[in-house]
Amino acid sequence: MNIADIRKEYSQGALNEGSLPDNPVEGLRQWFQEAVKAQVMEPNAMVLSTVNRQGRPSSRVVLLKEISNRGIVFFTNYLSRKGQEIEAENHVSVNFFWPELERQVRIEGQAYQIPAEDSDAYFYSRPRLSQAGAIASAQSQVVESREELDAKMAELMADPEQELQRPEHWGGYEIVVEYAEFWQGRPGRVHDRIAYFETGPGTFQTKRLSP
Ligand SMILES: Cc1cc2nc3c(=O)[nH]c(=O)nc-3n(C[C@H](O)[C@H](O)[C@H](O)COP(=O)(O)O)c2cc1C
Repeated sequence: MNIADIRKEYSQGALNEGSLPDNPVEGLRQWFQEAVKAQVMEPNAMVLSTVNRQGRPSSRVVLLKEISNRGIVFFTNYLSRKGQEIEAENHVSVNFFWPELERQVRIEGQAYQIPAEDSDAYFYSRPRLSQAGAIASAQSQVVESREELDAKMAELMADPEQELQRPEHWGGYEIVVEYAEFWQGRPGRVHDRIAYFETGPGTFQTKRLSP
């Protein structure tokens, strides 16, 4: 197989300056609803990139759990690699790729821990097995074996009546949007790109970018 021969023409849609709302968060809400309607596989999966103190980036997939007034919310372990990187440098970027719609959304902004009550509300809404997983996993740390994890899980799941507490180091981050870009694939690689540049707190101006 020659990887270079894999190519796809994009022809499903077009994106005009006037077809997006004034605010990028509203734009994301609109496109997210369209992704759900189009039955995109895991439309809420997004690639989150962080940087360490040396400015070296790292990326991983996390799940979007809420589109707020100012941005987007996801949940994780605050002591994980991403959590530690965010605590040192909270500028992050996020990427959604919805191939079924030939669309990409890029978001840049600053991540802030959400209030503990809001993390509680989400944690206690999760299935018990996921709660146990959040407790059992010292996310990003080296673990001796699968058996060690399974043993911790078995212990946590042993008594179904026992309420599992949210660990303080597990919760949500809200990424407050400072820049966003909406990308629609077009034929001949002459894609549409509409970028939102922040002009003041919560106000944005859109510009078309060359593909
Ligand atoms: C589809 C998918 C969804 C995921 N969702 C989350 C999530 O919401 N939160 C999370 O902490 N990790 C999630 N992960 C796992 C992360 O990609 C990553 O392995 C983990 O957070 C550790 O990353 P880190 O060591 O860079 O902190 C998900 C992975 C995939 C493939």
